[in-house]
Amino acid sequence: MEWEWRTFLLLVHLVSTLLMAAPFYMLVIVNERARFGAPLGYFTDRYMENIIRNNSVRCFVFQGTMAASGLGLIYVNAWLSWSDLVTEPALIIKWVALLIMVSLLAYVHFYLQPRVEALVNQLKPDSPVPEGLAPRIAVLRMRRKRLAGVCLFLVLTALIMGLRATFLLNYYVAGIFVAVAALYAWRVYRKPVLLGWM
Ligand code: HEM
Repeated sequence: MEWEWRTFLLLVHLVSTLLMAAPFYMLVIVNERARFGAPLGYFTDRYMENIIRNNSVRCFVFQGTMAASGLGLIYVNAWLSWSDLVTEPALIIKWVALLIMVSLLAYVHFYLQPRVEALVNQLKPDSPVPEGLAPRIAVLRMRRKRLAGVCLFLVLTALIMGLRATFLLNYYVAGIFVAVAALYAWRVYRKPVLLGWM
């Protein structure tokens, strides 16, 4: 029975990992917006902000599923115990990464996004863009984009630590993977990755 529960919880955990790719796609969207090049305008920017705004709640749900299935895996795995949550580095990194991601998302959802919304709401389909609006939106968007880059790095780090938790991956190798994850998150933050990895 333990085996079936482990399989089920690992499946839920892995599917949630997949669905937590949101920071990657949000960075793709904002980089594509920059590539599109059109000036700030109601239709393009309202559409983009709707996509980004509506993603937060989905993300909270997946983060909750991640925590629940992760804790469930500790409960059902005979070789793991609750004390590993504070003694096993891979598990510590995982839950701390998740906690930071929840905090960053809460900051974006409850503080940053409402400010972006207040400014974007000043855009109207049939009137010119108010003077000085574009730079004010750009400052907030830049901060949000940076946080998405950090979140992408944390998702990848928690995923790599999953390999340690499951396959006892060597910590030095895990460290190399984490360094590559940092480089990749930086790349996705800076430029639209037209070829996936580049
Ligand atoms: C409270 C937070 C978390 C806890 C307690 C936790 C716990 C665990 C445990 C115990 C395992 C090993 C499962 C097994 O071998 O049966 C595992 C695997 C895994 N975790 Fe987490 N996890 C957490 C967060 C995350 C996050 C945020 C991610 C990525 C977004 C993640 C991605 C993975 C992956 C991909 C695996 C499986 C690796 C593989 O199949 O080789 N985990 N996790």
